[in-house]
Amino acid sequence: MGNHFLVTTAIPDPGLQLLGDAGQVTVLPEPPDYGTLAALCASGDFDVVLTQLRDLIDAPLLAGARLRGVSNYAVGYNNIDVDAATRHGIIVGNTPGVLTDATADIAMLLILGTARRVVEADRFVRAGKFHGWEPELLLGRDVSGAVLGLAGFGRIARATARRALGFGMEVIFSPRPPGDRHVSDEELGEFAGKVRQVPWAELVERSDFLSVHVPLNDQTRHLVDADVLRRMKPDAILINTARGPIVHEAALVDALRGGVIAGAGLDVFEDEPRLAPGLAGLPNTVLLPHLGSATVPVRSEMARLSALNAVAIAEGRVPPHAVNPPTMSL
Ligand code: GLV
Ligand code: GLV
Repeated sequence: MGNHFLVTTAIPDPGLQLLGDAGQVTVLPEPPDYGTLAALCASGDFDVVLTQLRDLIDAPLLAGARLRGVSNYAVGYNNIDVDAATRHGIIVGNTPGVLTDATADIAMLLILGTARRVVEADRFVRAGKFHGWEPELLLGRDVSGAVLGLAGFGRIARATARRALGFGMEVIFSPRPPGDRHVSDEELGEFAGKVRQVPWAELVERSDFLSVHVPLNDQTRHLVDADVLRRMKPDAILINTARGPIVHEAALVDALRGGVIAGAGLDVFEDEPRLAPGLAGLPNTVLLPHLGSATVPVRSEMARLSALNAVAIAEGRVPPHAVNPPTMSL
């Protein structure tokens, strides 16, 4: 019997070709609900399932699964209970590295877009309200000279720091909020002397733009809550390109309404694709539909990596990117 891959949602070239070269491929016609996916994973018909962020792969599903691996089409894997997968000898793959710059571009776009009110301005022009240059039309904020606070200091945070330094921002960071860990000059590398580590409380209080770059887990869920929002500067802007539940979205809506902070640029939402009530009506926000990695080359690289992970797992080899590298016997 050859390998059989289950693909929950069709992925771009060359993903399906690579899978097809290595075995049989079943692509579901529409995103499966939880019960359907659990039944398919338990059927014993498939070696590896290629999943999307919306596919919940939790402990009960994994307990019943007869699979060698789960290959997630994303760098983040908060949709998968990795500990449970490891317990059941199921390898989990992801797609790090290839989407770092694209996601940092979106963080920078949200910084610039909120600072310079791009959505309001675009609407203004389209509504036929532009009647000529005015000294005080749609005035925004300076990005150069502003303090960018990075919550997290992984790949995407560093790529954002690189961009922000190019725009003349002062960059401070807190590597593992709300906790701490010291980042040495050696680890800082190209950023030594250019960015400064501060405690989380100081990051919250000093940032003109506070940008979130941490994975979603029990420590980071609601990292930015009503209390943190209250401690931010009243003219601060919150940027989130990581995961929606890191920000308490209802508290954010209250804070934006009440002038507790000045604005928000969001690529992710707490209960995606739903928005917290009131969010869509706020003018001081730029809202994107989870586009961090959405360029043609990046999505193609993610397809290639997730397929290579799936094929390697199916063939009993170590995949290029495993979240729980296979020390277990398969
Ligand atoms: C997207 O959010 C990803 O984790 O790749
Ligand atoms: C994700 O790629 C990160 O480490 O920031």
